[in-house]
Amino acid sequence: MASKFQAPRGTFDVLPEQARSRGRLERAAAAIFSRAGYEPIATPAFEDTSLFERGVGKSTDIVRKEMFTFEDKGGRSLTLRPEGTASICRAYLEHGMHKLAQPVKLSYLGPFFRHERPQAGRYRQFHQLGAECIGADSPLADAEVIMLLADLLDELKVPGVELRLGSLGSFEARRAYLEDLKAHLHAHEGELSKDVRERIDINPLRAFDSDDEGTRGVMASAPTIVERLEGEDAEHFAEVRALLDAAGVAYVVDPTLVRGLDYYTRTIFSFVCDALGAQSEIGGGGRYDGLIEQLGGQPTPAVGFAAGIERILLALDEEEPPAGRDAFVAVADPDQRGRAMALAVELRHASLSVELDLAGRTLKSQLKHADRVGARRVLILDADGSTQLRDMGTGEQRAVDTGKLVDEMTGGES
Ligand code: HAM
Repeated sequence: MASKFQAPRGTFDVLPEQARSRGRLERAAAAIFSRAGYEPIATPAFEDTSLFERGVGKSTDIVRKEMFTFEDKGGRSLTLRPEGTASICRAYLEHGMHKLAQPVKLSYLGPFFRHERPQAGRYRQFHQLGAECIGADSPLADAEVIMLLADLLDELKVPGVELRLGSLGSFEARRAYLEDLKAHLHAHEGELSKDVRERIDINPLRAFDSDDEGTRGVMASAPTIVERLEGEDAEHFAEVRALLDAAGVAYVVDPTLVRGLDYYTRTIFSFVCDALGAQSEIGGGGRYDGLIEQLGGQPTPAVGFAAGIERILLALDEEEPPAGRDAFVAVADPDQRGRAMALAVELRHASLSVELDLAGRTLKSQLKHADRVGARRVLILDADGSTQLRDMGTGEQRAVDTGKLVDEMTGGES
């Protein structure tokens, strides 16, 4: 029954067998966020294009090449959100959250869209879960959001995870460093890839991220910002590290770490998983002390992260077994269908998972189907109004009083 229609390139369907492990992951994340006081927030799937141009940065690959941008019927330019932080900062300002006790701690989970070349772990519609802590400049906030993701990956037992940590310093401190980095790149222009060469003056940091061999050679001797951190920037970074050390969170300081968004200041981090191949980053984030101001608010320090749900699931590579059913209600006689429905509904109201035959099967094939859906018990409604309870594990069968069934099946006292 194949149809000529297929899910668009770079997108995928989440089938029920996949939805189970996804559900487990989402519940684990929601519990971790809730225990640390990160309240859920949801923002629209699309925003004004200018929000991302301003927030994510015009020189980034995301804004230059990867946005799904369209015009609405009123001629406004809208973009399917490529990430969540800019939207959440927009919502923080729009709803006057700066007037609340600070920091405001938010969590989210949902679909995001980037027009990238699809491959394993890289999609055009993917899902992120994330947390943002807005209004705190303390290194405690950096350590807290890093630990949220470390805890989640730990609890899910994602194998082979490494945390890489870096710092970009404040915008002011970075300015002088970027001039030196540009000078280094210009001095080696001939050895750089075309893409890096063209962006020396627009986004020199991205050169650290290049796969090109010549560029990598140049970057091996490039100055790094981590070795140049001074004053409060250096203290902040040292304190984040000390907090992670004290909490027993393992990490490596990676002076070449850069991220694909322009808003970062000071701490940046990335959780990578070697099992994932080329798209090895499971999640990452950092501090973005200038973003709220960039979007028109007062200077407001903030830090957060996002993780790719599909990448976590790929790294886990395990299927959650089906939950099975508490009972299946079968009829020995079609006249009993009304009673079967009423009984199934009564049991469902008592929080039991119960299915009944919707396909007009014979009793024999109802029993087979009950087995297929993983029913632990089958109630067989006979033509004379009596009811049998069959234990699918032992095969044992006995007559039961349907009036006492709820108590019997939920283990309650009658
Ligand atoms: P990002 O690094 O661009 O950061 O994305 C976060 C995570 O989303 C990545 O580590 C990756 O797991 C997943 N991801 C990104 N693109 C794709 C894709 N095309 N297919 C599948 N998974 C993908 C951000 O988005 C920032 N907003 C994170 C942040 C929050 N920084 C501060 N607060």
